[in-house]
Amino acid sequence: MKTSPAIREIPFAALGGVFEQDDIEAALAVMQGAAEPSGSFFPLPEENDFQQALAKHEGAAKAVSVNSCGTALDLCMMALEIAPGDEVITTPLSFVCTATCAIALGAKVVFADIDPNTMCLDPQDVRRRITPRTKAILPVHFAGLAADCGGFDAISDETGIPIIYDAAHAVGTKYRGAPIGGRGRANCYSFQSNKNMTTLGEGGAVTSNDEEFAEVVRQKKTFGYVYGPQLRVASVGFNYRMTKPQSAVGLTQLAKIDRVISRRLEVFQVMHRMLEGVEELILPDGIEDGHGCHLYIVRLNTDRFPLDRAEFLSVLKNKYRVSCGMHYPAIWTWDAMSELGYSEAGSDCPIAAKASRQVVSLPLFPKTTSDDCEYLAWAIKSSLAEIQKS
Ligand SMILES: Cc1ncc(COP(=O)(O)O)c(C=O)c1O
Repeated sequence: MKTSPAIREIPFAALGGVFEQDDIEAALAVMQGAAEPSGSFFPLPEENDFQQALAKHEGAAKAVSVNSCGTALDLCMMALEIAPGDEVITTPLSFVCTATCAIALGAKVVFADIDPNTMCLDPQDVRRRITPRTKAILPVHFAGLAADCGGFDAISDETGIPIIYDAAHAVGTKYRGAPIGGRGRANCYSFQSNKNMTTLGEGGAVTSNDEEFAEVVRQKKTFGYVYGPQLRVASVGFNYRMTKPQSAVGLTQLAKIDRVISRRLEVFQVMHRMLEGVEELILPDGIEDGHGCHLYIVRLNTDRFPLDRAEFLSVLKNKYRVSCGMHYPAIWTWDAMSELGYSEAGSDCPIAAKASRQVVSLPLFPKTTSDDCEYLAWAIKSSLAEIQKS
């Protein structure tokens, strides 16, 4: 009889990419340079180098680095002059800031439903929510899978409504074989610690093919400055800059992002094969070349089986020491959102509402071994069997 594997700890919050000697040396070199008599932490030239490298990698004319994806989204909403009375359409299956970036400027968020296969915002459902007040549409490249950029291009071409993509999960993601950085009006990236690349724990960027738009974002991220023989403050702005060591590490992280994504894809595919045929699970779509492979999210097949997610997660954690994530509780479930009047009933997004109760993100990272995958698959199957017996 085959013996059960020994229980081992599998944490969820691991570094999403890989951090190596070259990253450490890049940060150190900046610090050593700053310690020279004429040294400083003034962000150039690393800021420009990183922005150019990112724009090239993501296939965009311009990249503007910032200190997080949250601020990247805020800046894009400000650059579009989103204001009270406006509506912004987005998915409820995302991190809260995908909605609060618009709410913070006084706009109303209108949720539209997701595609049940890809879990990305569904352009057809978006269409029926458009009103004369709609000022932006904000799809998410969910889990690293590209949103339906063609569908959103068509809406934007017909209506003139700008598309701002939340690309927090999507550095390296491709849509029909091409990078996504130039799609829509802009794409907002995250380089926070557990993303596929990180700029020392926090960081983000806006990429765009619209140079005027990118220039507005650039000004706003840095006090509205326009540099020249005389410094000008050309518009109202903020300080959302990335630091010099972060930009330096952004360069080394970006240099290995394709390798990181290939490794993540291998891990995802091993897991995918091991879970194929488990009827209690709905496996993610599009685990193939071009997927940014940020999150591997399964859904519990609650239509066919009486599965309690909380119980499943509790058995996985307490008995098998496996920690999972949940991406995401629907945005309307957060207190701040319900206090503003957002609700499941008022949003009419049944597919996203259901998915948000079924999703479980598995702890898969570049350092996950095939042994770990085997252990995970065994722990998942055993937990599913146990919760159905109880
Ligand atoms: C979809 C999505 N958008 C935006 C963000 C915010 O990113 P940041 O932490 O860089 O502000 C996150 C963070 O996890 C996210 O998952």
